[in-house]
Amino acid sequence: MSPLTPEEVRAQIPIMQKYIYLDNAATTPVPLPVFEAVKEYIYEYPANVERGAYSIAAIASEKVDEARENIANLLLNCNPSEFIFTRNETQGGNFVAHTLLQPLLNRAEGNFSEVEPIVKWEPHDEIITTVIEHHSNMLPWMRLARQVKADYKVIMPEKDGILRPKDFTPVISEKTKLVAFQHASNVLGTVHPVKEIIRQIREINPHTLIFIDGSQAPGHIRVDVKALDCDFYAFSGHKGPLSMPGTGGLYIRKELISQLDPEEIGGGIIADVTKFDYKLRSDSYGKRWDAGTPNIVGYLALGRAAVYVAKEIGLKNIEEQELKLMKLLLEEIQDIKNLEFYGPRTLENRGGVLTFNIKGWTSHELSLALDDNWSILTRGGHHCAIPAMRWLGIHDEYGGNTRVSFHYYNLESDIEKLIEALKVLSE
Ligand SMILES: Cc1ncc(COP(=O)(O)O)c(C=O)c1O
Repeated sequence: MSPLTPEEVRAQIPIMQKYIYLDNAATTPVPLPVFEAVKEYIYEYPANVERGAYSIAAIASEKVDEARENIANLLLNCNPSEFIFTRNETQGGNFVAHTLLQPLLNRAEGNFSEVEPIVKWEPHDEIITTVIEHHSNMLPWMRLARQVKADYKVIMPEKDGILRPKDFTPVISEKTKLVAFQHASNVLGTVHPVKEIIRQIREINPHTLIFIDGSQAPGHIRVDVKALDCDFYAFSGHKGPLSMPGTGGLYIRKELISQLDPEEIGGGIIADVTKFDYKLRSDSYGKRWDAGTPNIVGYLALGRAAVYVAKEIGLKNIEEQELKLMKLLLEEIQDIKNLEFYGPRTLENRGGVLTFNIKGWTSHELSLALDDNWSILTRGGHHCAIPAMRWLGIHDEYGGNTRVSFHYYNLESDIEKLIEALKVLSE
């Protein structure tokens, strides 16, 4: 079967018939085939999973297993047992931060014993992140640092917003216990050389844990967590993968997830329970994190969406379409007077996100004017990255910047209309 074209995908997204939707970094509309998967569950096999033996309960459980496999294989290239369903990227980061606080309880092998914590925190251990992170990849680590009395350090990259290995190497030491940074930026449009950065971090300190915020990557570009060699990788389903809000995932490397006591415990995650203790299931580490009746419709939506973006469209095609649009935008936007844009001047290390300001407009006003006059939907503001906006020096004057962000179903005609509108607004 030949891959879906951008026009075919656009036709499967009702809102695209009414607006020029350029806010895909915030959330994406759900295409009809993903919605159909949810409908199918509700109409055909609306049963709980991992519990009942009757026919539709078995179907529902199988479908959720299939979804887990597709997401793990197609979006991350990990083993399904290393994959945890979450609400979004934010929850993935918080799960990891909480987990690193706990001493580990080995409830898996039935010996009901306490074992060594994964991280033995000592005062002045270091937690490292960067100034361009989303608040969701800052606050959990700030709080963790206070709780464990670690030093919290913030890397300042070059102003083009590309994170480079040389930004990390002077900061990593034997005291570094955790490094958390993004795969791609929602503020500068950059896609970072994550594999190379991780390689250099591990050369200096092989024991450091590495958390990657993948919010702006899966579904837009090909991601291989094994090749990256990270320990944790969190993402949201409602962005690049084209799933629904309330869906997302967290990869945890097998050696770690096999030892972790899950964030929440209860029904559905156990092999045995005595009157006083419990033994976690061992058939799937990821399923240990599914206490209680899970978000079944969300899991199925994300599973269907993984197949849609990775197989029916193709991640390489998405990458190419977004870069084609970005090339056109970069060529045209350079000539608009009174307009300043952020991030690299060329396609180097860029994805499908671009931010800018026009003199005389706050970022919110500009975004509203684009909607009011041209039905072009963009995002204005600080994009949950206030430290990045202060570092760019645009927080006070503009309240941040205005952002356009693409997906496969955006067309060159969208960029042409945007450019026309920006030319009028910058007069
Ligand atoms: C880079 C980055 N990290 C984290 C997040 C948080 O994502 P969510 O709100 O889906 O948890 C976002 C959302 O825009 C983001 O762009």
